[in-house]
Amino acid sequence: MKVGVLTGGGDCPGLNAVIRAIVYKGITRYGYDVQGIYEGWKGLLNGGRVAPLALEDVSGILATGGTILKTSRTNPFAIRDGLKKVRKNIDKYGFDALIAIGGEDTLGVAAKLNKAGIKIVGVPKTIDNDVAGTDQTFGFDTAVQIATEAIDRVRSTAEAHNRVVLVEVMGRHAGWIAVKSGIAGGANMILVPEYPVDVNKVMTSIVKRHARGEPSSVIVVAEGAKLKNPKGKGVDMTVTEDKDEFGHKRLGGIAMALSLIIEEMTGFECRNVILGHIQRGGTPTATDRVLSTRYGVTAIDLVHKKQFGKMTALRGTKIVAAPLSAATKSPRTIDKEFYQIAEVFFG
Ligand code: F6P
Repeated sequence: MKVGVLTGGGDCPGLNAVIRAIVYKGITRYGYDVQGIYEGWKGLLNGGRVAPLALEDVSGILATGGTILKTSRTNPFAIRDGLKKVRKNIDKYGFDALIAIGGEDTLGVAAKLNKAGIKIVGVPKTIDNDVAGTDQTFGFDTAVQIATEAIDRVRSTAEAHNRVVLVEVMGRHAGWIAVKSGIAGGANMILVPEYPVDVNKVMTSIVKRHARGEPSSVIVVAEGAKLKNPKGKGVDMTVTEDKDEFGHKRLGGIAMALSLIIEEMTGFECRNVILGHIQRGGTPTATDRVLSTRYGVTAIDLVHKKQFGKMTALRGTKIVAAPLSAATKSPRTIDKEFYQIAEVFFG
């Protein structure tokens, strides 16, 4: 049995741990020929790269960030004859099955390929934790850890200068990183895409804190956060109007825009920090290493059981097989009760 493995979309900590688990169990327990497909779906288009993965190739990668297979945001369905080319290359390399490790875009492509008859299993990843069909994606815990540490560090300097500091974290459709790191770091306000907060409420909270002798505030903002009644310069969070092959604009800058508004409306000195790709790089936490390992082992088991069209998923404490199509549903967003816990500490 020849199994091709690829990583697609934005990288995240834990990808290498998944690859290691697939290769390890695939070779030692099932005697499979496991092959790496490089740069996501690009690896299965013309000019792509495929190479065998041996045990020694995955030795020592458990704790490393990035992906030894590289990644890209290539969408074969946005390319002329993309499906035909993918099929041709699957035949050329003689793959009996594929494992795609990715977020909603990569798994969306996997679901379409499976519908077209290709034998494929998925593994959900993203630091944003918004893939539908699973309770958690790997990479998220690490991002929360990094963001929490940043908030802790920012707080001491904010306090020293009596400043308002805005910390911008990733989260395009869902504010999971913002809300979890914000709760963990004791943020004074957390702004997320799901529950738009009135700009005036943000000001009131800062002013109230100041009045009671707390002249500094730390506000956590998800890159895709929405605000009600944005005034002044407006709140622009897109870096460019250009879109990737899945139709996403590049986000970034909401913290900067909002800090100018806050300064203008309150007169308090503001600073902003964009954590950006720091949240996606480096070693995964122990929790992410374990989740990634469980996902990788389960993915190769699904291939062995011929459960194609499925993805690994965490439900409660168990790893289960969910339909790949689950990942293409609307992103999994923060539920109200969870956000209400964070709201207790606003203002
Ligand atoms: O992978 C998800 C994500 O980290 C989003 O939170 C963010 O908007 C996007 O990727 C950034 O992507 P890129 O690395 O292509 O700039």
